[in-house]
Amino acid sequence: MTLEGIDGAGKSSHVVWLADFLRTREKVVLSTREPGGTALGEKLRDHLLSEAMHPETEALLMFAARKEHIAQVILPALERGAWVICDRFTDASHAYQGGGKGLDRRRLIELERWVHGEESSQPCEPDLTLLFDVPCEVARERIALAGRHLDRFEQEDAKFHDRVRYAYLERARKFPERFCVLDGQKNLEAIREEITAWLVERGA
Ligand code: TYD
Repeated sequence: MTLEGIDGAGKSSHVVWLADFLRTREKVVLSTREPGGTALGEKLRDHLLSEAMHPETEALLMFAARKEHIAQVILPALERGAWVICDRFTDASHAYQGGGKGLDRRRLIELERWVHGEESSQPCEPDLTLLFDVPCEVARERIALAGRHLDRFEQEDAKFHDRVRYAYLERARKFPERFCVLDGQKNLEAIREEITAWLVERGA
């Protein structure tokens, strides 16, 4: 399963809790993130979050890191029967590189087909996705309050984050069977109750 949302939507506050919750339900859990999740992926993450580059280079590096992640970490874990929790995945490429940066969606779909192995017998697709949705002004205020160094994506302007938000919501409308859209402005407990009910309904 994957967690998504614009920067500052609050998804990170739920990652550890989610893994613990699934473990209490007797699941074997692997928690990972993108970009990153492998030694090579984490090196690519450092470049992606700090260095200026052509938007297509950015998309290609996101998917290069993802191929390594799928091959080395995600598929082996799924084969062992684990639940994989991934903090961001391909929906983020559609939202940030597609919605935010305006890259041609067909190019992203081609990369997705290739990297997910959609022609293979075992394509790698998330079966559940939690989307933490908040208005962009709320997210920006939270990031500002945290007072830490901003990465290259967090430094983008409000219009960029609005486009990312709407691209995420569009994906949720396109794939309603796997998306759970959460109001990221609700308090932590209310959000966790909603996630718990949704997951239990889906066999957690
Ligand atoms: P993020 O997941 O927000 O990490 P942290 O919680 O430590 O800040 O940072 C990753 C950034 O990478 C985020 O701004 C979104 C961006 N990103 C893309 O643009 N495309 C992608 O495909 C992925 C996976 C992430």
